[in-house]
Amino acid sequence: MHKPLLAAEVSEPGPQPGLGGPVIGIIGSGDFSRSLAARLVASGFRVAVGSRAPGRVSRAAFPAGAELCSQGEAAQRADRLLFVAVYPEHYHSLLGLSQQLQGKVLVDVSNASSLSRQEQSNAERLAQLFPQSSVVKGFNVLSAWALQAGACDGNRQVPICSDEADSKVAVLQLARRLGFSPVDVGGLCAARGVEEAPLVLFPSWGRPILLTFLLFLFFYGYNFLRHILLPFLDQGENNFYQLPLVTVNDTLPAVALVTLALVYLPGLVAAVFQLARGTKYKRFPGWLDGWLCSRKQLGLLSFLCAGLHAVYSMCLTLRSAAGYTLLNTAYHQVKAGVENSWVEQLVWRSDLYLSCGILGLGILALLAVTSLPSVGNALNWREFTFVQSGLGYAALTLSIMHTLFFGWDFAFFPSAYRYYLPPVYLLALILPCTVLVGRVFLALPCLMFRLAKIRRGWECTRHRPPNHLEPEATGDV
Ligand SMILES: Cc1cc2nc3c(=O)[nH]c(=O)nc-3n(C[C@H](O)[C@H](O)[C@H](O)COP(=O)(O)OP(=O)(O)OC[C@H]3O[C@@H](n4cnc5c(N)ncnc54)[C@H](O)[C@@H]3O)c2cc1C
Ligand SMILES: NC(=O)c1ccc[n+]([C@@H]2O[C@H](COP(=O)([O-])OP(=O)(O)OC[C@H]3O[C@@H](n4cnc5c(N)ncnc54)[C@H](OP(=O)(O)O)[C@@H]3O)[C@@H](O)[C@H]2O)c1
Ligand code: HEM
Repeated sequence: MHKPLLAAEVSEPGPQPGLGGPVIGIIGSGDFSRSLAARLVASGFRVAVGSRAPGRVSRAAFPAGAELCSQGEAAQRADRLLFVAVYPEHYHSLLGLSQQLQGKVLVDVSNASSLSRQEQSNAERLAQLFPQSSVVKGFNVLSAWALQAGACDGNRQVPICSDEADSKVAVLQLARRLGFSPVDVGGLCAARGVEEAPLVLFPSWGRPILLTFLLFLFFYGYNFLRHILLPFLDQGENNFYQLPLVTVNDTLPAVALVTLALVYLPGLVAAVFQLARGTKYKRFPGWLDGWLCSRKQLGLLSFLCAGLHAVYSMCLTLRSAAGYTLLNTAYHQVKAGVENSWVEQLVWRSDLYLSCGILGLGILALLAVTSLPSVGNALNWREFTFVQSGLGYAALTLSIMHTLFFGWDFAFFPSAYRYYLPPVYLLALILPCTVLVGRVFLALPCLMFRLAKIRRGWECTRHRPPNHLEPEATGDV
């Protein structure tokens, strides 16, 4: 920890290791304070840690370059920056330090205690308590562990905000010197979002996960009814052994296919809205906006289900049940004197549906890889659209073909509608086929050109502003 983590050639203003840089103050001697002090000292800063009772604090917990003193002394020794590493409930106990803190920059590192939308952020409250100091919000997204882990392990984005530009720049530079990537998120009014950031739990995933789960429940229930419960009640067939694997593998692909269709459906609905309105400048209804923004999550969930389905499918033949079924079939064939049970049509069917499934899954994997920010950011807009939209539709088409080849012509036999319930693959195909037909429909030249015009900013007459120059007059239709 005594060895500086940053190379000496960093050109920003700041301390040079070993030369004795500016003193950074920290109020509080808890976990965060200890890790921050270690990081600051390792980066060549001098540190003054202010405690209510410095005598009670274990000296060994702090690095050699950090000085343990009273809160007032730390406030006085700090050249400019002071981290407030105490819980916000105790901010008022620092009011006695107002004089010493005058003109200093207070860095509020606190997190929100809950997501229950308080009126005021902790940082705004600190600024109200110390009007003579300037308050900067930041560093709260780092855990004490991440601070201690070193520049490589802990290198991550640190949102920082303040109403005082100079103070904010000083904290941004400090964060950079400590090996983090500071992000200026604006004024102190952004502090509440910054304070809540460590508490939110996958904010954009809730609805897509719920929807996928409900689809799973529906298809699992349907399969259970059709393949297990009704045959048991009707003929005493005991198919309950299918519950853990076969039924799951009948359910997962149906969920994957429908979810994949739900990724591409909102783009079509958006197109219909734009065509009907004759403009792209009118906002979509909230539900469509939300749906468009959930496509990445829905797509990745579809990929997850399809991937699991592929693994389950490969295990189908490993099951004891498959071995016994094969043996029994072979025995019956021998008894019946059948020498060759090769059915050319069914051989083609299985090869075709497996090949389409593998290709579909491969393309979905490509989409998943490009959804990683580090990969997606390396693509330009056209490349990203080609992969996500072009190849995405290719994956949808291949998945539909996989299911159609799997279904073959069995859907035309009455035996497929046991208990008047259609097979699950037929249900799963409805939405994807609708999306594909809709996409083909939108590719009709009359619709495609009008949509392209609208998306380039053209508006039909009823939406144009009064002084709009008619495109016809300029020859630009
Ligand atoms: C495995 C997997 C990973 C995926 N990863 C990502 C990902 O990382 N990022 C991602 O965005 N999608 C991701 N998706 C979802 C999907 O592939 C893309 O959203 C794809 O671009 C949708 O193509 P599209 O042709 O339906 O619509 P688009 O071509 O995107 O949109 C159609 C039209 O709708 C309008 N429109 C679209 N969005 C909005 C909006 N928010 N507000 C107003 N108008 C809008 C535009 O006019 C646009 O031209 C992923 C899907 C899968 C299966
Ligand atoms: N720990 C983390 O990983 C982490 C991560 C991000 C943000 N934070 C934020 O950092 C702040 C401190 O967290 P922490 O984990 O370091 O907490 P902690 O271990 O409980 O330390 C808090 C320190 O505050 C000091 N303090 C000052 N006045 C106090 C008072 N009136 N009553 C009680 N204590 C008082 C105490 O030091 P003295 O007894 O020496 O005065 C105490 O050690 C919090 O706002 C937290 O949200 C922590
Ligand atoms: C490596 C890739 C894949 C393999 C090996 C594979 C394999 C299989 C197998 C063996 C079946 C028949 C299951 C049974 O007998 O009950 C099947 C059915 C099915 N697959 Fe796939 N598949 C793959 C990818 C996909 C993908 C990407 C999708 C869609 C997104 C998909 C959707 C379906 C559907 C809807 C069914 C019909 C389910 C039913 O009604 O029982 N598959 N697949």
